[in-house]
Amino acid sequence: MIKINSFEEYKEHYKLSVEQPEKFWDYIANEFVWHKKWTKTLEWNFEEPKINWFINGQLNITQNCIDRHLPQYANKTAFIFEPNNPNEKNEIISYQKLHDEVCRLANVLLKMGVNKGDTVCIYMPMIPQAVYAMLACARIGAIHSVVFGGFSSNALKDRINDAKCKIILTTDGAYRGNKVIPMKETIDEALTHCDSVKNVLVYKRTNTKVTMLNNRDLDWEEEIKNQPTICEPVFVDSEHPLFILYTSGSTGKPKGVVHTTGGYMVYTAYTFTNVFQYSPNDIYWCTADVGWITGHSYIAYAPLLNAATTVLFEGVPTYPDASRFWQVIDKHNVTHFYTAPTAIRALEAAGLDFVKPYKLSSLKVLGSVGEPINEEAWHWYNTNIGKNNCPIVDTWWQTETAGILISPLAGITKTKPGYATLPLPGIQPILVDDKGVEITGNSIEGNLCIKFPWPGIIRTTYGDHERCKQTYFSTYKGLYFTGDGCKRDKDGNYRITGRVDDVINVSGHRIGTAEVESAINMHEDIVESAVTGYPHEIKGQGIYAYCITTNDNKNSDQLKKEIIEIVNKEIGPIAKPDKIQIVNGLPKTRSGKIMRRILRKVAEGEISNLGDTSTLLDPNVVDDILKGRIH
Ligand code: WT7
Repeated sequence: MIKINSFEEYKEHYKLSVEQPEKFWDYIANEFVWHKKWTKTLEWNFEEPKINWFINGQLNITQNCIDRHLPQYANKTAFIFEPNNPNEKNEIISYQKLHDEVCRLANVLLKMGVNKGDTVCIYMPMIPQAVYAMLACARIGAIHSVVFGGFSSNALKDRINDAKCKIILTTDGAYRGNKVIPMKETIDEALTHCDSVKNVLVYKRTNTKVTMLNNRDLDWEEEIKNQPTICEPVFVDSEHPLFILYTSGSTGKPKGVVHTTGGYMVYTAYTFTNVFQYSPNDIYWCTADVGWITGHSYIAYAPLLNAATTVLFEGVPTYPDASRFWQVIDKHNVTHFYTAPTAIRALEAAGLDFVKPYKLSSLKVLGSVGEPINEEAWHWYNTNIGKNNCPIVDTWWQTETAGILISPLAGITKTKPGYATLPLPGIQPILVDDKGVEITGNSIEGNLCIKFPWPGIIRTTYGDHERCKQTYFSTYKGLYFTGDGCKRDKDGNYRITGRVDDVINVSGHRIGTAEVESAINMHEDIVESAVTGYPHEIKGQGIYAYCITTNDNKNSDQLKKEIIEIVNKEIGPIAKPDKIQIVNGLPKTRSGKIMRRILRKVAEGEISNLGDTSTLLDPNVVDDILKGRIH
């Protein structure tokens, strides 16, 4: 993979990528194996939107992730599996073994009647089989939709139905710290409302007792047992969908972000090499879950496209105790460590005694992703983990972007705490004001948009192209709108300030306020609710819910408990409100619109200046809310 070696080179590559984007990406894409070469590099307009890369090209991404490496790297380790329980043996998965497992599973999918273009739901913990599952789909041109294991059966049901999944791949249960979490049982609950599903393939991880439905549920081991370790790759067009991944926005239910094969492959592989400056003998570890985009791009696809060795970790940062990450780094001589600010803050809070016993001398590069990293956490990470000797790459990107857009290149770009620094080659950021007018110059702040397509950009939202257009391409004409606010300093470095829409970033997870509100409103005693974020020491943002109840007789602790339960049931524990305030009314304008700005300020504790309240229908509501504010 083409690697930038100096800051001078970065500037040259960047210039070429802006002046001659097609030539630039042709050059990168040529490094892969194509069944048929593309005839045109790019066609696009952001109005429809319609974005096609590497037109008429045909390929199979798994051939590029696996087969392509076998002549040289058959015995090289692709994954080191580190189980939840530190006493359980590691499993070493070579590129050859990965090939064989993916092929066997792909053959099972074929036997179950999965065709090119069919959708398959993957609801699994962080075990090698989850990656096999994704790649087995891609092997035969099926589209995977991975749903994070922490989502509830209702959330799962919505996603299965929206994507019309034919097959589900899951496990009996999942290990998570000292807990065993049911997986198959959650699937069973979801499937009472899903008509598209024909079969469920169940891998036994925890030996939890599960019910297996005749003719529907199949045992993974039984099925793969007699399958050959060869399965010819099915070649697909560059623009054939590779996967769907659901993410939250400011309105409605989560939407299925669609990424397509050719552009996704080229963009994720390129950014991995360059941001992390990965070399062939390095050991890379990204602590995300395959249920999120970080896991898709920077655990599964991009490292494999680079023939990298990756640690695949099943557990959590605090089990058996807060030293687990550091223990694993020493154990496997990890060189590249990529995690989220929320984990850094939690481990910082646990104290240095958990870090001190470990050498951490193998580390070369540290990464951060998912939310703005506050300066304190940045310095703690730099000093105590990196020993002032490892560049920190603060990588800004989104589910919709497939890969990293703004980030330092490790050891090449000068870092600045709190700043994602500079755009990668191919990325043309622009800051606009609320009317969409570009704010030029430096030392400025605005809404972050991108004005030119890169190969990994979102193509559509599954089953609803109009929604894609409305959400990302209509706010500011001719631009992709990220939903983030951003500053640019005097040297052109970018600092992401957080979402400017009604999306909350809780521990690096995106939660739509509308989603949480609609869950809360399902409670029979709740008439109306409004949810906002507030600064949280560990999670980055916490969830603050204002709720109006019809039942004043109910003990409010009991009511709050029930509200949390209903959010757990409708979405999952990641969306549960941290603070719940029962209120008599919500601040509304005369036209009935909730003034969220006021609620946000109260939740943030910025109560000395609530801004303009003159359009409020009933100013008394605000006084009431202030009196009952949860500290
Ligand atoms: C949102 C995207 C990127 C993969 C994980 C999250 C925020 C992400 C950073 C960063 C500041 C960041 C943004 C973005 N975000 N990385 N380095 N600095 N903010 O993907 O769930 O699609 O969330 O996460 O607000 O819009 P996601």
